[in-house]
Order: sequence, then C-alpha cells, then structure tokens
Amino acid sequence: MTNILCIGAGYVGGPTMAVIASHCPQHRVVVVDINAARIAAWQSDRLPIYEPGLEAVVRSALNRNLFFSTEVDRHIDEADIIFVSVNTPTKTFGQGAGRAADLQYWEKTARQILHNATTPKIVVEKSTLPVRTAEAMEQILNYNSKGLHFDVISNPEFLAEGTAVQDMENPDRVLVGGKDSISGQKAIQAIVDIYAQWIPRERILTTNLWSSELSKLAANAYLAQRVSSINAISALCEKTGADVTEVAHAIGLDNRIGPRFLRASVGFGGSCFKKDILNLVYLCEFYGLKEVANYWEQVVSMNEHQQTRFVSNIVSSLFNTIAGKRIALFGAAFKANTSDTRESPALAVCRGLLAEHAEVVITDPYALENARNELGEQADRVIFEPDPYVAAREAHAIAIVTEWAQYTELDYKTIFASMIKPAFIFDGRNILDHKRLYALGFNVYAIGKPPLTHNHAD
Ligand code: NAD
Ligand code: UGA
Repeated sequence: MTNILCIGAGYVGGPTMAVIASHCPQHRVVVVDINAARIAAWQSDRLPIYEPGLEAVVRSALNRNLFFSTEVDRHIDEADIIFVSVNTPTKTFGQGAGRAADLQYWEKTARQILHNATTPKIVVEKSTLPVRTAEAMEQILNYNSKGLHFDVISNPEFLAEGTAVQDMENPDRVLVGGKDSISGQKAIQAIVDIYAQWIPRERILTTNLWSSELSKLAANAYLAQRVSSINAISALCEKTGADVTEVAHAIGLDNRIGPRFLRASVGFGGSCFKKDILNLVYLCEFYGLKEVANYWEQVVSMNEHQQTRFVSNIVSSLFNTIAGKRIALFGAAFKANTSDTRESPALAVCRGLLAEHAEVVITDPYALENARNELGEQADRVIFEPDPYVAAREAHAIAIVTEWAQYTELDYKTIFASMIKPAFIFDGRNILDHKRLYALGFNVYAIGKPPLTHNHAD
C-alpha cells in the first residue's frame, strides 16, 4: 500500500484524487485543505463543485480508501507521495504584479511538508507552475538538517472542467517529469505506476522536469490561442457577411487544423487560460524574449476585446442606451456543465452592462451562488433568478453567455410573448436556432454572423 496525500481539495485536487482512489483500491488517498467548509462538503451529499459523474466516483471510494481532512500537518508525515494542488493565482502585488504566478501558497506548502516530515517523500507538482519552480522547491525541501531527501516531480493536470471525470478516466496523455538521477527515475516510476492502473502505458509520457512544467503552460496557451483566433475571425465575419460557423467548419476539415476548439464565443473564461498565458508572458519577459511575450499577450487582449465588443453590440443595437433596461443573462458559469464562475465571460458582460446602468438579471442552473460571491459588492445591483422564464419576463434583451444545453430547449415563443418589444436576443455561444427565433419575432444577433433584424419602422 502507498499512502498518497493531496494538499488542496479544489477543482483539481478533489476530482483527480477521487479517480485515483477509485482505480487504486490498494492505496490510501487523503485529501487535505485549510478550507474546512470545502472539506466538509466533499464528505457530504452536496459536493463543493458541480461536475458530471463526480458524485458516483467520490461515493465509490469515500471512507474506503479516499478520505478528506483539514489536518494538513498530521497527514504529511504518513504520506509516501504528496501531490500539491493548491491555487497558483496571478500575483496582485510587487514584481510581476498582474502577470507572474503568485507562488506563496505553493512555497508555504513546501515548508509545511519539510516541517512535518520525518521520512523521505516524493513531492508532486500538480498545480500549474512557471518553468523551473521545481528547482526552487527542491532547494527549499532538500536544504534541511534532518538528513531527508525529497524528489520533486512535475505531473501537470490537463482536465477541463465539465468533463473532468471523463478526462481523468481517459486522458489523451499523462505527463510525468522528473530528474535523470537514480532517485529521480525511481520517483517518476512511482507516479507512472499509479496512472498505469487504468491508463495505457503508451499514453503516459515521461520527460525532464522543465519540459513537463512548460508543456502545461504551452498547452493552455495553444488552446486559448485557438479560441482567440476564431473570435478574431468572428469580428471580421460580422463586418463582411461571412458566417463564422461555416468558416470554422471549412477550416476545421483540414486535418492539420482539426475541428476542436473552433467555437466562436463571447470569449474564453475559467481560472486558468488567462492566468497561465500571463504567466507565460512574464516568463518570456524574464528571459528577455520581448517579442515572444507580446505575441502571447495578444491572445488575452483579443479575448478582452471580444467581451467588450459583445457588450458594445448590445448597447448599440438597443438604440444606444440600456440604462434602466432589463437584460437577462442566460448563464453565469464560464462554460457549460460546471458551477465555476472564475473569470467567467458572463460576469465580464454583466459588469459591462451594469456600467451602462442596465438592470441585469442572471439565470444559471448551477452557478448562481458562485456568481453572487464573484461579483462582490456589484451583486447588490443584480437579480439572481434560477428560472430562465422568470428572468426573461419584461426584459428588453436576452444574452446567452453560457452554452448550457437547457437553453436550446426553452419555449422561446412563450419567452418572446413575455418580453418588452422589440425583443432582442444576443447569442454569445451560437447555440440557438437563429432563423426560428427571427421567425418568432426576435431581433437576433449572434457571434460572427449577419444579424437577423426586423425593421420596426416599416
Ligand atoms: P482551487 O482554488 O479550486 O483549489 C485550491 C485549494 O488549495 C483551495 O481549496 C485552497 O484552500 C487550498 N490551499 C491553499 N493553500 C493551502 C495550504 N497551505 N494547505 C492546504 N490547502 C491549501 O484551485 P484549482 O482550480 O483546483 O487549481 C489548483 C491548481 O491546478 C492551479 O495551479 C491551477 O492552475 C491548476 N489546474 C486547474 C485546473 C482546473 O480546471 N481548475 C485544471 C488543471 C490545472
Ligand atoms: C482548460 C483546458 O482545456 C484544460 O486542458 C486545462 O487543464 C485547464 O484549462 C486548466 O489548466 O485549468 P477549462 O478552462 O476547464 O480547461 O475549460 P475549456 O474547455 O478549455 O474552456 C475554456 C474556455 O474557453 C471556456 O470559457 C469555453 O467556453 C471557451 N471555449 C472553449 C470557447 O469559447 N470556444 C471553444 O471552441 C472552446
């Protein structure tokens, strides 16, 4: 039996450890966090995050070989392998503010491991970190008077929220980076052995530490870059009469490009894309690669432009003023099938509409509580309404900002009848049947498509 500990019971720590525990009944997996409410939620009937399929996986292993606890210190010394999955947000102060990763939580964890350990351990970077973080960690951990040796391994996580369980069960690849030394190679093997319990060996890649750390940042930068690229094209489509869905289909059929991650949208969100690209930008600047930094920074700028453009389009279409007008936002989560609202474009749009003094009502099947917390003081100016029909009542416009499947199945005839006329719909995810909505009487604005508008002056 191997004692596995994970420090950080968030969107990554919880699901990844639940899947490991479910496939490795011979190992004992403990997940710890300083957030007592989160730990209590993992042990309850209401998990702290909404993720399809997660409840069943957690239930299959909970209190068998999967345990959640707030006793970080106590569990450190029992562990043979410690995954560290704490948050690594963008730094908000000092050098590199707004770009560099804030490594204080990660470093605190390393020192806590050192303080409590009496036996050697493998420490695994699960959090996303700047290249060469492992070097700093090794120095902190191995500069000790206890005579203990620690091996640091990089094992970045590639799961996407909304499909986390599926991604963990059947990943495209697992990456394990480590040192070339004898103990480094042994440590790599120990991590490979865990994943090999359910993942074909050829999909488990082993690399050096720095390649592993950089591959994680590079993968997110590439994915985000695809979204920004198609969103850039969507802006041009709106000016020229081209249809971005048709363009995406046409270019995606080229198998050098491929069809995935070509959905034009109101912009990408989530806790990682922006943070990881800015981290990459900071690293490039640090190494004197100014042009490379500028190149990647454009991916973030384009994303911000897409969100601003969406709000401007609402204002100009609604006769250049939305002050006092009720606007229903369909969605708060940064994508479908998650309750996560971190960096959600829905909330960026909400803030933009509030700045224009609109009356904003937000509906979402799972993310309203997080949206309220995320909006802080601005939440007082927003109505949170779980029922989309109620949200749309007496509204001048609906904006689809999260691609929840349920929004495609609503009775838009009833919704249209309940709205102020002329009624507008802005489809920020291109998920609705625009021609049908137009036939029902809506003025329809989609991303990267010619608007379908009735001339009410006739
Ligand atoms: P999160 O904020 O949901 O979870 C992090 C948890 O760590 C929090 O619950 C926090 O209380 C806990 N924590 C912080 N310091 C601690 C300490 N000293 N001791 C114990 N617990 C501590 O973050 P997340 O979304 O799970 O992301 C974690 C890391 O994984 C980040 O580096 C992120 O970039 C990366 N990542 C995230 C995703 C994702 O989909 N969210 C996917 C891949 C990688
Ligand atoms: C992303 C990556 O896909 C994961 O591999 C990675 O592990 C993770 O970041 C991370 O490091 O945190 P995630 O942010 O959960 O996962 O979700 P994605 O499916 O990548 O979507 C990100 C954003 O892009 C969402 O707002 C989504 O709506 C948007 N998106 C995605 C588009 O607008 N168009 C697309 O074609 C695809």
